[in-house]
Amino acid sequence: MQEIIKRLDEKRAAARLGGGQKRIDRQHENGKLAARERIELFLDPGSFEEWDMFVEHGCTEFGMDKQKIPGDGVVTGYGTVGGRLVFVFSQDFTVFGGSLSKAHADKICKIMDHAIKVGAPVVGLNDSGGARIQEGVDSLAGYADVFQRNVMASGVIPQISMIMGPCAGGAVYSPSMTDFIFMVKDTSYMFVTGPEVVKTVTHETVTAEELGGAKTHTHKSGVADLAFENDVEALFMLRRFVNFLPANNREKPPVWPTTDSAERMVPSLDTLVPDDPNKPYDMKELIIKIVDDRNFFELQRDYAANILIGFGRMEGSTVGIVANQPMVLAGCLDIDSSKKAARFVRFCDAFNIPIVTLVDVPGFLPGTAQEYGGIIKHGAKLLYAYAEATVPKITLITRKAYGGAYDVMSSKHLRGDVNLAWPSAEIAVMGSKGAVEIIFRQDMADQEKIDLRTQEYKDRFANPFVAGARGFVDDVILPHSTRKRICRSLAMLKNKQLENPWRKHGNIPL
Ligand code: HXC
Repeated sequence: MQEIIKRLDEKRAAARLGGGQKRIDRQHENGKLAARERIELFLDPGSFEEWDMFVEHGCTEFGMDKQKIPGDGVVTGYGTVGGRLVFVFSQDFTVFGGSLSKAHADKICKIMDHAIKVGAPVVGLNDSGGARIQEGVDSLAGYADVFQRNVMASGVIPQISMIMGPCAGGAVYSPSMTDFIFMVKDTSYMFVTGPEVVKTVTHETVTAEELGGAKTHTHKSGVADLAFENDVEALFMLRRFVNFLPANNREKPPVWPTTDSAERMVPSLDTLVPDDPNKPYDMKELIIKIVDDRNFFELQRDYAANILIGFGRMEGSTVGIVANQPMVLAGCLDIDSSKKAARFVRFCDAFNIPIVTLVDVPGFLPGTAQEYGGIIKHGAKLLYAYAEATVPKITLITRKAYGGAYDVMSSKHLRGDVNLAWPSAEIAVMGSKGAVEIIFRQDMADQEKIDLRTQEYKDRFANPFVAGARGFVDDVILPHSTRKRICRSLAMLKNKQLENPWRKHGNIPL
């Protein structure tokens, strides 16, 4: 017995060392933590249960039969975050560059299968050079096994990817199918083909950072949701983030204790909307002032900033917030903002998270760039997502709600449960100036007449009462009572039951 325990200790020690101390040191020199250090920071202390520590690859090509490292480049298992179960895999760059062999993939698949079975999130800490080149098609098979599970898990358990090193080739497709992607600045990048291949094929010269660094994916492509300064901040924020999510699609969102009263009045909101309808204001201020403890976890902050998305809590329960941002492009909807918000709405709907929508939208962005880019289809994604959603939907119109964008932004007509408006709301087909230019074109030469008509249109439509008279808004509320009114609406909707007709799946305009 003593002998076997000694052997076990030795084997464990060897596995923990991964690709060796030298490579671990190199990882540290590069500003990165080792795979197990990351897990320790992410999970509650002492909660990690590791599986498959002794798994080795089965490759015999290129002398690989003489290079076997227990664990084969990925640490897998489960533990808790704030006492709640989470499955995790952490790729070990010190072992063959974290590259994915069949055995490595099998380890990831094993925890994914369990996570689906028991209903708990899967978090991937990605640091990988892609397919294990020596393994050929076995590695590709391994990737596809993971992809298949990503799809089966989608909408069943939350899947989160933290990119903490290179993520090249096949390594990007699995994260791309997870619900959220986070990155670490300066040490992580994602691309399908690296700078050398790009140079050969398109003759473009580009660095890895420019091609797929954190800035690229949080500002330009929108692939990543957020980027963090370093591994420690990233893992701390990941813990905070997981706390917002239900463990699976059958659970309600977790409730977080708060002393912030649901009845809290916010007098400063009475002056948030400027008198001049063309003057912007910061919608984020409204969000921060109405959620519990001013705690708003914003996602995709630097991408399509004309719409805001993120999680907050109200009376302790998680809500998803979608809000037009008048500070950027006047808060209009365009291709990027529609896609950004649509995916978020679908996540919330899949995981029983009520959606609070704050509306100040002048319409869809006009122009050839938008039309050629397919705004019709992309804008329809958001429309589809809201119309399909069966979770509690609460909408507040603070100012403009014009045209098709009024319909799209969780209107009553898309089964909005509670639709509220501030007295400053303007609900119309378009702004008064544009409207008059079309319907009174014959009077355009007479400025006095036009001013009169514009005022007439404004008086008639630039208010919430026409919609109120038809029941399209349920109430016109005073801004300072917004938090109270939304909290009460959420409480009323707690046991909402609504089902869409049976179908294999819908056909969202992709
Ligand atoms: C096997 C790999 C590897 C890989 C890295 N290594 N990538 N081993 N398969 N894919 C090994 C290296 O040989 C090296 O071993 C160690 O990992 C560290 O790599 P370095 O190159 O020294 O590190 P660094 O300079 O930081 O560069 C990291 C890197 C680079 C950018 C990831 O290694 C790289 O470009 N690797 C290849 C990426 C790639 O083309 N992958 C295949 C993509 S195709 P030693 O022993 O020296 O420490 C693909 C198709 C799948 O993924 C499609 C599925 C749909």
